[in-house]
Amino acid sequence: MKFFVDTADVAQIRELAETGLLDGVTTNPSLIAKSGRNFLEVVAEIASIVDGPVSAEVVAMDHETQMKEAEKLIPLASNICIKLPLTLDGLKTCKKLTDRGIQTNVTLCFTANQALLAAKAGATFISPFVGRHDDVSWNGMDLISDIRVIYDNYGFDTEILVASVRHPVHVLEAAKIGADVCTLPPDVLKKLANHPLTDNGLKAFLADWEKTGQSIL
Ligand code: G3P
Repeated sequence: MKFFVDTADVAQIRELAETGLLDGVTTNPSLIAKSGRNFLEVVAEIASIVDGPVSAEVVAMDHETQMKEAEKLIPLASNICIKLPLTLDGLKTCKKLTDRGIQTNVTLCFTANQALLAAKAGATFISPFVGRHDDVSWNGMDLISDIRVIYDNYGFDTEILVASVRHPVHVLEAAKIGADVCTLPPDVLKKLANHPLTDNGLKAFLADWEKTGQSIL
């Protein structure tokens, strides 16, 4: 499973990129607003930090303006992935861009039928939002399972990018289903490494090591 980080916070992206665990970055208009930075500048900076896809989202609703916005974003870096809303206009833009070899991420997916349309439009990634499904008492992971079955039935190459991830169990369940990518808030990615027994075991090992009076260096 690939890990993307879902943030426009450059300091966090740099820190996580250094772990070697980061395969890409996703942003959205809310995350850009939170960063307080100029959209084009921050996206270009993020794309210079990570080698993998960096999703940058258009904000126009109509196909023609979406294409114009995409033309501003595409030259920023070779790893820019154009993020598009799951609407008929967004799907039309997706098809036009993927036909040109541009990476695309179709976002705000809440049904498996929407995911089927995105795959038919040639999307590189589909972003189903699991946390927001859970928020309205539906099981977001059922959506991931359904999309996995449908994509495998027809051999679609579109990667399932699990979004709106809120906690480590989302990651575990997505990995068991065989989702291709999880995009994680930085704190959730860090939490994946945590376990109290790891901390306790380490404390005991270091206490015993201290007793030996030795030093490796
Ligand atoms: O990847 C989409 C994500 O940014 C939305 O997350 O927690 O606002 O539903 P959330």
